[in-house]
Amino acid sequence: MKRRACIATLILVAAPALADAPPSSTPVWVDTSRTVTQQFGAELKGELTRAMQQGGPAVAIDVCRKRAPEIARRLSEESGARVGRTALKVRNSANAPDGLERAVLEQFSTELASGKFTPPLEAAFEINRGGAVERHYMRAIPTEGVCLACHGETLAPEIAAAVREAYPSDQATGFREGDLRGAFSVTWPAAAPHP
Ligand code: HEC
Repeated sequence: MKRRACIATLILVAAPALADAPPSSTPVWVDTSRTVTQQFGAELKGELTRAMQQGGPAVAIDVCRKRAPEIARRLSEESGARVGRTALKVRNSANAPDGLERAVLEQFSTELASGKFTPPLEAAFEINRGGAVERHYMRAIPTEGVCLACHGETLAPEIAAAVREAYPSDQATGFREGDLRGAFSVTWPAAAPHP
C-alpha cells in the first residue's frame, strides 16, 4: 500500500519526533482530515472557476487572495484542527511550510515525479510532544491545466502584473501540468480533543 510506504518514509525523515504510525484501519481523524480537505478544495475550486468565468484571471486572483484564507479559517474553527495550504514555492508567504511540512512536500514531489503514483497522494502521521500526540495529515495538490493561467511558466502580462502587485515576493510560477503545486495540511493539536 503506497500510503503506508509513505508513512514509513516519513518516520525515517523525522524519526526522533514520531510516535507509532496509525494502525491499519483508518483512524477517524484521518477520515475527518480527508473530508475537510476535500471540502476546502471543492469550495475554493468552485469559487475560482466562477470568478474566472465571470471576471477572468485578474478578478480571480482577488477571489483567491480573500477567499482561500477565509475558507481555511472557517474550516479550522468548525473542525478544531488547523487547516491550510502550503507549498515548496509559495505565492503567499503566510502559507510557507514548516520543517515537517517541507519534508512531506519533498517526498510528495519525488513520488509525483516518479509517475508511479495515482493521486490522491497523502500522508498521515503522529508526533509525540512530551507525551501528548499531535496528529498531521497532508494531501498533495497536483497542478492542473486550469491552474496554469496563474501558476504556469508563462503568465499573460496583466495577470503577471496583478500577481506582482498583490504578492511582490511570489515564487509560485513556472509549474507544468502534473507537477506538485502544493498540499493541504491539517494539524490536530496535541492539547485539543480530536475525532
Ligand atoms: C486566478 C489565479 C489563480 C489560479 C487560476 C489558481 N491560483 Fe493558486 N493561488 C492564487 C493566489 C492569488 C494564491 C495566494 C492565495 C493566498 O493569499 O493565500 C494562490 C495560492 C495557491 C496555493 C497556496 C500556496 C501558495 O502558493 O501560497 C496553492 C496550493 C494553489 N494556489 C494551488 C492552485 C491550484 C492547484 C490551482 C488550479 C486548480 C490554482 N492554484 C489556480 C491564484 C490562482
